[in-house]
Amino acid sequence: MHDDFTERGMGMKKIALFGGTFDPIHRGHIETALRLADALALDSVILMPTHVPPHKVKESLTPAADRLAMCRIAAEPYAKITVSDMEITRGGASFTVDTLTELSEQYPDTAWYLFTGADMFCTMRSWYRFADIAAMATLCTVPRDGTDGQRLREYAATLQQQGARCFVADAAVTTVSSSDVRERLASNEPIDGLLPDGVEDYIRAHGLYSTAAAQTGDRDEQFRAIIRARLGDYRYHHSLCVADEAKRLAKRYGGDEKKAYTAGLLHDIMKDTDPNTQLQILDDFAILLDGVERQVKKLWHARVGAVFIDKILHVGDAEIVNAVRYHTTGRAGMSLLEKIVFVADFTSADRNYPDVDEIRRLSDISLEETMEYALAYTIHDLLNRGQAIHPDTLAVYNELILAKMAGGQTHE
Ligand SMILES: [Fe+2]
Ligand SMILES: [Fe+2]
Repeated sequence: MHDDFTERGMGMKKIALFGGTFDPIHRGHIETALRLADALALDSVILMPTHVPPHKVKESLTPAADRLAMCRIAAEPYAKITVSDMEITRGGASFTVDTLTELSEQYPDTAWYLFTGADMFCTMRSWYRFADIAAMATLCTVPRDGTDGQRLREYAATLQQQGARCFVADAAVTTVSSSDVRERLASNEPIDGLLPDGVEDYIRAHGLYSTAAAQTGDRDEQFRAIIRARLGDYRYHHSLCVADEAKRLAKRYGGDEKKAYTAGLLHDIMKDTDPNTQLQILDDFAILLDGVERQVKKLWHARVGAVFIDKILHVGDAEIVNAVRYHTTGRAGMSLLEKIVFVADFTSADRNYPDVDEIRRLSDISLEETMEYALAYTIHDLLNRGQAIHPDTLAVYNELILAKMAGGQTHE
């Protein structure tokens, strides 16, 4: 790939803008910056933590001040890497084109380079005012591995046909992902040199990414605070009751009490979130609703809740995520934890409906009997109200009935 700095004056500086959430900044970022600075003989690379990226969910981001501080710590040892708070100070969602324009005013006589990660690079053409960006800067990226390089060079070729200047580095950088780093931190796993010197200390000192809670082993305290902020009084009280009931059922049926409590606490985390926001979260994580789900808004909160606790709260436990996901519809082949949360949602202390005493009585005898009763109740209710029944609900109901028949209990 070529760049055209030979066309530019000899006295011009060559500076790259490297934007990102840096949540947190990791060694892959630093390695990318150094690799490109070297390959392009740059004078400097400016790390630009974004305030709110347009494609991310706001709640997921660590406070800007912390992300900025971590970038500064990471950049410290390298003379060529600097950090700018321009986008954070500007606030709101920043467009790259505005940032480049402002930088060009601050640093005249500069040839600009724009770094993006491999995935973002391949979305370049859809960026706001792409043509202006391409006119202002050479677009640069680094492959994540050998096969990635080919894909990037092909995409770069299409950009060049539109007049853009591009640079794709030859060698791949170490693959590190910020989400992997966050998950490791949240579950207190070692992060073996994934973070630049000093960044891990900063994270631990400030209790970021749940590390403080992970160290004391009590994430539920944090989850309670999170649902308190997201739910109305009624739903918050219900969630605490379901958590207690799930724990009781786990004890009764030999399940994991701690997981049951956490899943109960989180099961309705999205119930009071407005539907448009729920759809936006599904969209952000490229999740498609099935036919019935699309029509029945009541089902969304389970699906969105599961994504939220998985991708944003980093609950780090697939069983808990599935217990939240299937707490409304159920499904065939439910795990013990899924059944416990499903039943607890019917039998929790705050519940008050015509059949609640019968369901509570059954819940002391058999989880499956309780499920069957609760499902029959739900299916009746949906039929009476002329509403669609999710196929997963029918599937678990049939499974329970067929298992009973196979067990010889219903021969007449
Ligand atoms: Fe629910
Ligand atoms: Fe609920």
